[in-house]
Amino acid sequence: MEKIYIKEMREEHLDSVLEIEADAYGAHHWSKDGFRNELANNLAHYICAFKENAQGELELAGYSGIWTIFEEAHITTLAVSSRHRGQHVAQAILLAQIKFLYKNMVKYLTLEVRESNAKAISLYEKFGFKSLGKRKNYYQDNGEDALIMWTNNIFSDSYKKLHEELLENLNLEVIYE
Ligand SMILES: CC(C)(COP(=O)(O)OP(=O)(O)OC[C@H]1O[C@@H](n2cnc3c(N)ncnc32)[C@H](O)[C@@H]1OP(=O)(O)O)[C@@H](O)C(=O)NCCC(=O)NCCS
Repeated sequence: MEKIYIKEMREEHLDSVLEIEADAYGAHHWSKDGFRNELANNLAHYICAFKENAQGELELAGYSGIWTIFEEAHITTLAVSSRHRGQHVAQAILLAQIKFLYKNMVKYLTLEVRESNAKAISLYEKFGFKSLGKRKNYYQDNGEDALIMWTNNIFSDSYKKLHEELLENLNLEVIYE
């Protein structure tokens, strides 16, 4: 099974993060200072996922951030480099964030997603997120609405069962560093 390495995001990762960020979000992507501010924030938990390239070197495949406030964690960003998409990298990243939530007794996970982003919505639905509302004209670039999606309590038996299934079906070996 292919391996994926999960590390806390650090300053030294930011050049590679910015490359994926610019590719994923175009003109409206976050700046390096934006990420630096996030990394300096106590509420934030940012992780990077690496895969080995043909030369055996680790290269950044994707990253994500969450903000935890009391019982809720808000996904602030999630992106996978175009050459690593469709290989379960996003699923591995979300599972790593959920592991962090279980460890820290955080019950709910929420996010906003563009209502046209079918790929991401399908990913989040796989993780038990349901759309519970909309933020009208949320995205400044085109005035698009955001869907507000939530999981149910991740400590519920039903979510734990889903979590088990997601772990079993992941086609990557996850190594935490
Ligand atoms: C959305 C994104 C993070 C998915 O990353 P990924 O690593 O390719 O996703 P995975 O391989 O882990 O796929 C997870 C699930 O997402 C959905 N998905 C992924 N690619 C898809 C596609 N091309 N079409 C439809 N659904 C897709 C599927 O449900 C998939 O599960 P499956 O492989 O079992 O069918 C990636 O496309 C991306 O970075 N997009 C740009 C940034 C973005 O939109 N981020 C989300 C903002 S809220």
